[in-house]
Amino acid sequence: MSQPAERPSLKKILQMFEFKSEDLNKTFREAVAQKLIPPPLSQRKGPFVHEYYPMEEIHHIGRHLGFLKKWPTPMSLAFFTTKGGVLKTTLTLNFARMLALHGLKVLVIGLDMQGDVTRALGYQEEADENLPLDQMIEASLKTPGLYEYFAGRAKLEEVIVELSSHLHLIPETAELAALNDQLFNVNRREYWLLEKVIKPLRQNYDCILMDCSPNWNRLATNALVACDALVSPLECKINNFRNFKIFESFIGEFRKEMGLKFSQFFIPTLFSGQKKLSMDIRHWYHANLGECLKNGLRETTISEEASALNLSLVEHAPTSAAALEMKEILAEVMEALQEKQASSVDILLQKGQPQNIRHTRLS
Ligand SMILES: Nc1ncnc2c1ncn2[C@@H]1O[C@H](COP(=O)(O)OP(=O)(O)OP(=O)(O)O)[C@@H](O)[C@H]1O
Ligand SMILES: [Mg+2]
Repeated sequence: MSQPAERPSLKKILQMFEFKSEDLNKTFREAVAQKLIPPPLSQRKGPFVHEYYPMEEIHHIGRHLGFLKKWPTPMSLAFFTTKGGVLKTTLTLNFARMLALHGLKVLVIGLDMQGDVTRALGYQEEADENLPLDQMIEASLKTPGLYEYFAGRAKLEEVIVELSSHLHLIPETAELAALNDQLFNVNRREYWLLEKVIKPLRQNYDCILMDCSPNWNRLATNALVACDALVSPLECKINNFRNFKIFESFIGEFRKEMGLKFSQFFIPTLFSGQKKLSMDIRHWYHANLGECLKNGLRETTISEEASALNLSLVEHAPTSAAALEMKEILAEVMEALQEKQASSVDILLQKGQPQNIRHTRLS
């Protein structure tokens, strides 16, 4: 089903970007003829010619033919809800890889001490296996993370890992627990991430994604203060209702108290066409929550497989129903945010402050 990730076939790459049943083949050939996209590499296999691109070249195609277009002002998204296992990290992984495939510059910040998004993105510290064990352990303890930056023992650029030209990561380290603890003692403790990490890095990226744990902790409240949009998966299961009500009231109070204006998106997840109750719950969310997306992500093993391979659904199984759902989710969220960006730019222009446009946060 999935090609080796290093050199997917041209056919598969076009399927990754096809959206709403369009056929990109003709547009692709025209773009190559106009030299907007480098031509594919090819390899003869008997009577057939296999056309492909190396993985690191795909962003050229995404930039020209993908369904997402670059936006003028950087955006930051937090993936958070207080329920565990509802696909926060899966959504972060899929958003990150799909945005990067579209030629957008993405930074993922891991804020969960479990380190799930760091693992999901396939980041592993390179252990030099020729070293004795005690030196390997020592080397692994030295890898700096956000805590070392907070404590003044590392510079911000030293905690950023380049996974590819368009996808960077601030990986989770075990010391995030200490950061969470010590943030309690700083002034404006909810603003540390915004002031010290997001603001200095913002102009380097089109999108910053923060993957939170399901705990209402200091790292999560920092992510809420730092985000333009909160993305919260909503599990389509009956036991989620109570949790959701509490989460909604926490968020509402926090937002009001802190004067935050982030956009909010609820994404129904883990529903199944075979289970009537889960479909009823999905409909209830749609009918009752203004911020609920039209689209959601079903329960499916193909999505688990993709995550296990450190791939987005569109790379692993581009024609699957789940990949289409993921494309629709991404398009719906990004389009809503771009509309909001455009309207805040309009307001600034009306007020005669065009010089502020590039630095405007969504509000
Ligand atoms: N569509 C899917 N259907 C079923 N399981 C899935 C699907 N997509 C991903 N999974 C698997 O579900 C598990 C939980 O997903 P994920 O880690 O994204 O949840 P989470 O909300 O981030 O969890 P936590 O609260 O622990 O951080 C993972 O093992 C993941 O691979
Ligand atoms: Mg997670």
